[in-house]
Amino acid sequence: MAAFVTAGLVAVSLYLFFFVFFPIARGAIYDPSSRTEAEVMAHIAEVQPREKAADLGSGDGRVVCALARAGAEAHGYEINPLLVLVSRRNIRREGLGGRAFIHWGNFWRRRLSDYTLITAFQVGFVMARLEAKLRRELAPGSRIVSHYWRFPGLSPEQTQGNIYRYRIPDPARRPTSRS
Ligand SMILES: C[S@@+](CC[C@H](N)C(=O)[O-])C[C@H]1O[C@@H](n2cnc3c(N)ncnc32)[C@H](O)[C@@H]1O
Repeated sequence: MAAFVTAGLVAVSLYLFFFVFFPIARGAIYDPSSRTEAEVMAHIAEVQPREKAADLGSGDGRVVCALARAGAEAHGYEINPLLVLVSRRNIRREGLGGRAFIHWGNFWRRRLSDYTLITAFQVGFVMARLEAKLRRELAPGSRIVSHYWRFPGLSPEQTQGNIYRYRIPDPARRPTSRS
């Protein structure tokens, strides 16, 4: 009985350490998109051949793999080291080496200006901050696909179920208070 309780406590502690401690206050905890949703994200993104795409908080890599299969050079940023290992194994198993890459770390600390396509399945409390980061760092015309959560200051240009595609506006076309 004592061994059973100890094993349970160890399992809960490991879960809390990897799956709650790492993302807490930085973004969503792990809750993967379904396989179908990952495919819809890649589809609605209208991936261009070999364009650079990044999934912010890439979990087990399923969205990264879907983007790579659609033709992108796909990168994932993931803060949970266990998920980094799992997603790298998934990339190898799918034969997507050289087209899909996982980076261990906090995506808030990464500059995203090399990417023309961003995907994310994050959480409500980060969406305003994430919008500000993406507006600052992405070139006008870049696309963003968000699963479930909407950005407060952008209107989706395409929607499929609870998956939204946005585009970074051209600053010259943004309304200003002095016009
Ligand atoms: C809801 S899951 C989505 C996983 C994957 N994108 C998908 O759609 O299946 C959110 C992921 O973001 C990761 N995450 C949360 N905050 C992060 C941060 N600041 N930097 C990197 N990864 C983060 C979590 O560890 C988790 O794996």
